Amino acid sequence: MDERLKRTEWFRHDRFGMFIHWGLYSIPARGEWARGSEQIDDNTYYSYFNQFDPYAYDAREWARLAKSAGMKYAVLTAKHHDGFCLFDSALTDFKATNTPAGRDLVREYTDAFRAEGLKVGLYYSLIDWNHPAYPAYQHHSHPHRNNENYKNRRPFTEYIDYMHNQVKELCTGYGKIDIMWFDFSYGDMCGEKWEATKLINMIRKYQPDIITDNRLEVSGEGFGSLATENPLIYSGDFVSPECIIPPEGIVNTAGCAIPWEACITLNDNWGWAPSDNNYKDESVVIRKLVECVSKGGNLLLNVGPDATGRIPEQSRNILTNVGRWMDGHSQAIYGAGKSDYTKPEWGRYTQCGDTVYACVMDFPVGPLALPGIPAEKIDYCRLFPGGSELKLYNDWRTSNYAGIAYVNIPRYDMYNKIYTVIKIKLKQ
Ligand code: GLC
Repeated sequence: MDERLKRTEWFRHDRFGMFIHWGLYSIPARGEWARGSEQIDDNTYYSYFNQFDPYAYDAREWARLAKSAGMKYAVLTAKHHDGFCLFDSALTDFKATNTPAGRDLVREYTDAFRAEGLKVGLYYSLIDWNHPAYPAYQHHSHPHRNNENYKNRRPFTEYIDYMHNQVKELCTGYGKIDIMWFDFSYGDMCGEKWEATKLINMIRKYQPDIITDNRLEVSGEGFGSLATENPLIYSGDFVSPECIIPPEGIVNTAGCAIPWEACITLNDNWGWAPSDNNYKDESVVIRKLVECVSKGGNLLLNVGPDATGRIPEQSRNILTNVGRWMDGHSQAIYGAGKSDYTKPEWGRYTQCGDTVYACVMDFPVGPLALPGIPAEKIDYCRLFPGGSELKLYNDWRTSNYAGIAYVNIPRYDMYNKIYTVIKIKLKQ
């Protein structure tokens, strides 16, 4: 088996994770790009550093919320583009332990999430708006891109050393890390510019089973060499489409499905932004999760904890409701993937071996047609939650539609709830 498929086995099984964007930017509270997009000067930004006091941060609460939502893994921003580190790096002073927080916030996260049985991932920004060797003047999104005083920078190799050594700290100081989520490449800042071969070899030495996204090579829209038949060593293990679900999943140039994970915001921002109330409600989240799975992908759904360290109430409520659905229907998600059968008009099929899950999102009038699945191929059907028997069904209404299998969803199960799942066991 291809080493990437082997490494991603758990990942392709688990399907649903929590993305956590948290850092100093939770104080200005206009999303995680504020330092760059608003070109905030250093004094102002460092004042947030001196004020960062997330007294309500309780990683166990975050972990319990993720778990109760049915999420199986998480990815926390150990360092975002602003350069601020949530972990106690020996290589910088710009870290949480030097703020009023005074704690290694990454360690609390890795400990707490593992304790809840979740896999732990770390996001690490390749871009760094704080490091003196990172290109600044007229460069991309840098907060000092219009300031001539930032023309002369220290040699870029100093940044590469710093970045590699910080990744090493994360790979050696926090136990088993399941995902290293790099962000992101652009222009000629990609691949070997990051000394990516050396970086990946180092990571694998300390974390042989770790999986990585594809952004050492590309950014949120790119596939990279992972989608070719000869991926580079640093191509990553999965494609990371950002705020989009690929129309038909993702295949490589040979037509083979490759792992992918859509990362999606819950409102319209990654970092805490209280003025943004454009939340996706639980029914949207559930539909999007089912959509990802039905196309062979994962969903990494974001939360942006606030400046006190709490996950916003709206997000908590939505996730709790998603969890209520997951509780009775998650067999359509875990271990499932793309179905052999074409998408039905009322929802989506997911599939695991010889079991198809019909996720019914638009309830029928009368019996439900199971298009594409011949009646004689069906061993039995079960209705979830609960697992009660659901017989193939025909009456005078279906008599003109020969060749289509029907089931009759009991009235009590319709209209009054979000999405039903029907398990359809196929004959061998
Ligand atoms: C982007 C953004 C970033 C966010 C990430 C998540 O590339 O720069 O703020 O963390 O996407 O995918």
